Amino acid sequence: METLKGLERNRNCGEIRKIDEGQEVQLAGWVSRRRDHGGLIFVDMRDRSGIVQIVFDESEIGEKSFDKAETLRNEFVIGVRGKVRARSAETVNPKMATGEVEIVVNELRILNKAKTPPFYIQDGIDVDENVRLRYRYLDLRRPEMQKNIMLRHRVTKIMRDYLDANGFLEIETPMLCRSTPEGARDFLVPSRLNPGQFYALPQSPQIFKQLLMVSGFEKYFQIVRCFRDEDLRADRQPEFTQLDIETSFLNQDDIINLMEGLIKNIFESTLDVKIATPFQRMSWDEAMDRFGTDKPDLRFGMELQDISEYVKGSDFKVFSSVLESGGQIKVINVEGYANIPRKELDGLVEYVKTYGAKGLAWIQYTEEGIKSPFKKFYSEETFEQIKQATGAKTGDLLLVVGDKASVVAQALGELRLEMARRRNLIDANKLCFLWIVDFPMFEYVEEDKRYKAMHHPFTSPREEDVEFLLTAPEKVKANAYDIVLNGVEVGGGSLRIYQSDLQEKVFEAIGLTKDEARAKFGFLMDAFEYGTPPHGGIAFGLDRLVMLMAQRKSIRDVIAFPKTQSAIDPMSHAPSEVDEKQLRELHIKSNVKKVVS
Ligand code: AMO
Ligand code: AMP
Repeated sequence: METLKGLERNRNCGEIRKIDEGQEVQLAGWVSRRRDHGGLIFVDMRDRSGIVQIVFDESEIGEKSFDKAETLRNEFVIGVRGKVRARSAETVNPKMATGEVEIVVNELRILNKAKTPPFYIQDGIDVDENVRLRYRYLDLRRPEMQKNIMLRHRVTKIMRDYLDANGFLEIETPMLCRSTPEGARDFLVPSRLNPGQFYALPQSPQIFKQLLMVSGFEKYFQIVRCFRDEDLRADRQPEFTQLDIETSFLNQDDIINLMEGLIKNIFESTLDVKIATPFQRMSWDEAMDRFGTDKPDLRFGMELQDISEYVKGSDFKVFSSVLESGGQIKVINVEGYANIPRKELDGLVEYVKTYGAKGLAWIQYTEEGIKSPFKKFYSEETFEQIKQATGAKTGDLLLVVGDKASVVAQALGELRLEMARRRNLIDANKLCFLWIVDFPMFEYVEEDKRYKAMHHPFTSPREEDVEFLLTAPEKVKANAYDIVLNGVEVGGGSLRIYQSDLQEKVFEAIGLTKDEARAKFGFLMDAFEYGTPPHGGIAFGLDRLVMLMAQRKSIRDVIAFPKTQSAIDPMSHAPSEVDEKQLRELHIKSNVKKVVS
């Protein structure tokens, strides 16, 4: 095997330009593509910085070396020395950064050979994601994936610089801990030294960062892995990374301002954009009312509108029964789509059903008049009133859902997104930031017949609502805030409770008895007795943020080694079975029957 000795790399492939013409350069990298033209061989040579064309000319390099060049195959690792030459006008490739030059090779070394990869190492391949993940080391070699990982590096670097400049300290917290209260299922780790006992991997460093405030660090941050055993989606992984932040003595506006500065810095330093601050703020109630979700995508309109007052008191049973039981009738206006095919309408009915709606109705304001499944129950005038009230025009389509408020919100909120996608209403280059504030403190869990904390139980209630904590918990709003970008929740935080008596009251409101609360969080409540500063913070989902910056649809594309939707790693085959002996040492017995294959 050959080495790079004496041919040490002195330039990167992707940075050679016309100004380097005539220079001798030494490059190292991979064969990306090879084209054989008789006495001429062209190779696209790739390293981390990009691709440059290198040329083997039999008449210049000699027969022996040329024969060697003929053995080159994709993904061979090579070192070359050669002279930079300007390409002739007709061979310039404007699509490549290095497209004006090529390297005429005078020495070639083959540092390593490669098997034929299972897919092409290039952008935009159409390959099953499982295959990509199985050969992730090759997938990551593709330029677009390299770009994503580099972007991620730059983002974390800017986070560190910005926070350092603003007086924050980076402090690590344990990975083996007690269960934290973010509301997902824990990943557990058995303790060999303490039979029958388990650590939980942190769902977030929430409790530790609050304790660091008790300790007087005042401004903390950490770029930290969090673990949550939840059902996975495109923007959810079992382990993901947060930029976790906590501060003392700051109010909600102070924190929001600091974070807007951070976001502005990140985006403007890495993407070619201008970010206007302050970001829009919207109450949770308003977001739910207008968009049916607490993470609205503001890149387009099509807001939910209530038409209950126009359709009440009729013989149309569907609407009247909804309204009698306290529900609502809402619409979205799909502009210019009154002539939607009947088949698509039928499909939409099924679509909203998957989000809990019992059905879907519509009003088509066509040139030929009104079409609607409930036309015969209302006067022409009512349809005109609805048209006026919703701002619909002839040619528009109203999609209608009636149900209790939470179902209408979910079904129409999702339908709004789906119709925007189908009608191509979303500008991929827009960045719409938004703070959602005034969250409810609690949400009612029907199955358990009790309230649970909407954010987490250390979130403080608004001062004016404290009196309702135990009498009317549904009325209480929290000092909590989420940051949303283009319909994705990229961060969330709150001002915390810092008095132990208030903390106890909140535990009581979510049905934790004093003893249970002590057993779970006694150490935190104890700490609060020793002079706890008012404090609050936030955590950003780093993966989600970078995904949006890179305009990807899945956070898996910005994580070097992610898990699949079913939480496995097809490359290393994690999770896997372990030795009996290992289990014995951990005092663990499995009751899963082994499948003998
Ligand atoms: P929260 O639970 O809202 O808050 O998490 C903060 C942010 O982390 C991201 N995120 C995820 N990203 C990928 N995969 C997941 N499974 C996942 N779960 C959450 C989201 C989310 O906005 N301790 C509090 C923060 C605080 O109060 O300071 C917390 O963890 O972008
Ligand atoms: P039905 O009386 O069930 O045949 O429904 C009459 C029309 O109302 C049909 O077009 C249904 O799709 C529609 N519809 C039924 N349930 C709802 C609902 N919850 N919201 C809006 N429209 C509905």
